[in-house]
Amino acid sequence: MSNVKIFVEKDYAALSRRSAQIIKARLEEKAASVLGLATGSTPIGTYEELVRLFNAGEIDFSQVTAFNLDEYFPVTKENNQSYAYFMRKNLFGFVNVKETNIPNGEAKNHETECAEYEKKIAASGGIDLQILGIGNNGHIGFNEPTDVFPSVTHYVELDASTIKANARFFANESEVPRHAITMGIKTIMQAKKILLLASGAGKANIIRDALFGAITPANPSSVLQLHHDVTVIVDEDAGKFIC
Ligand code: PGA
Repeated sequence: MSNVKIFVEKDYAALSRRSAQIIKARLEEKAASVLGLATGSTPIGTYEELVRLFNAGEIDFSQVTAFNLDEYFPVTKENNQSYAYFMRKNLFGFVNVKETNIPNGEAKNHETECAEYEKKIAASGGIDLQILGIGNNGHIGFNEPTDVFPSVTHYVELDASTIKANARFFANESEVPRHAITMGIKTIMQAKKILLLASGAGKANIIRDALFGAITPANPSSVLQLHHDVTVIVDEDAGKFIC
């Protein structure tokens, strides 16, 4: 798979440093990059490292436009479980990103919001570097396992396993929103470069399947095998079946 570059790092801290260095290198090549950003626990270390680099004067986001992958729906931006809140708390509150975009969890009409989000991404010139985590069920963004790869930004019902996995961030499982707006698989595949991150033994099976398993919408992450420029960074635990 010459289109996929794999880094197996000793631990989560090393993974996060590698990931931040790749983002930094991209911004050095193109200061006005369009970055696709992800939430979840995996990219938190990367964002911490980006904030550290920013405070050290080693990275500049002043020409960067950012698009997040997804957002719960409905959810207010002030809700501390919203991805808008997550991004403020972990990155946007501390660095100088020129323009940030996250699907609007408060939109009156989710269909219109999806169409407008997709249009905005296209109008930006497209995503230069898309950061992805991966769900235990193979979801990327909130593209859940299904029969057909969903294409553009769309409204989605969350998988029972995703609700269970995300319940750790809420008081209880019943509080996890049942729906979300997410970039589609086509939206993600149109990114010029993709950076996939995974940490911990719990991700080892799905990382193996994503990279070496059958390409099927039953495992949405498997589509990345068809992308022309994917970098995967795993720690030794998540990478134990691929090296
Ligand atoms: P995690 O989530 O980073 O919290 O493991 C990844 C995902 O669900 O995409």
